[in-house]
Amino acid sequence: MPTIIDGKLVAEEIKNELAQKVEILKNEGKKVPGLVTILVGDNPASQVYIKMKNKACGKIGFLSKVELMPENTEEKDLLDLIEKYNNDSNYHGILVQLPLPKQINEDKVIASISPAKDVDGFHPVSVGNLVIGNDTFFPCTPFGIMKLLEKYKIDPKGKHVVVVGRSNIVGKPIANMMLQKQKGANAVVTICHSAADDLSYFTKQADILIAAIGRANFITADMVKDDCVVIDVGINRVDDSSTEKGYKIVGDVDFENVKTKAAFITPVPGGVGVMTIAMLLYNTYKAYAKFEKINN
Ligand code: GUN
Repeated sequence: MPTIIDGKLVAEEIKNELAQKVEILKNEGKKVPGLVTILVGDNPASQVYIKMKNKACGKIGFLSKVELMPENTEEKDLLDLIEKYNNDSNYHGILVQLPLPKQINEDKVIASISPAKDVDGFHPVSVGNLVIGNDTFFPCTPFGIMKLLEKYKIDPKGKHVVVVGRSNIVGKPIANMMLQKQKGANAVVTICHSAADDLSYFTKQADILIAAIGRANFITADMVKDDCVVIDVGINRVDDSSTEKGYKIVGDVDFENVKTKAAFITPVPGGVGVMTIAMLLYNTYKAYAKFEKINN
């Protein structure tokens, strides 16, 4: 049987460490880290994520604020709000929840966030530093994956990491992080995606398979080799009349069947997803520490 990677446990550890640091700051009468999250429109999944991020901040003692803007918000109004928080020293991190309504240019919005407050790690400056191998804000989901591997002593060095998916949020950054000539990385990396003629040709070669394609139960047991490490980034809603809500959340991996072949596997929920918020808090503390000149 495989080891089921417990993201919840690792995320709790990270959050507890941060909560202790905040406790010390409070006892010393110092300012605490602050995060503002901005949601434009009423995408139901985004509403859930923003609520979870805000709650997690409050729980560990961070200052936290949610800015809600209507679906028909003009780009300029969002840019003005971001500029306000770029100049607000109580907020060390700014997160604009994606996707944005179609009248707003996502790239322009991301580029308007001060790189010093870019706790999502999406700003071109952060992305460039990541690719070069400089210290920067790492995007939260890939950062969470790296932490899980570290905690479970899975060393990617020299291993073949196959990433399925090429998004700016997960696929591209995790591939670049795995590639770095650094401890906890140093892997041989392949990025593939839905346009591949034969995706399983690639996935079967993976020592570590990272599924971030956004399709429910897409990776099946015949697509992986024995004893591989399977990291499932997917969060997909599928109809399920047996649940109260009428749906359930599943990953990109057919968990029940793939787990019979894997050495390690992340569940959904309780795997990578919970780590994303923990790393957002970690990045916010990092932004705070740099700004307030406190050792991280
Ligand atoms: N939408 C989906 N994932 C993310 C994320 O990590 N950050 C932001 N800002 N938006 C998202």
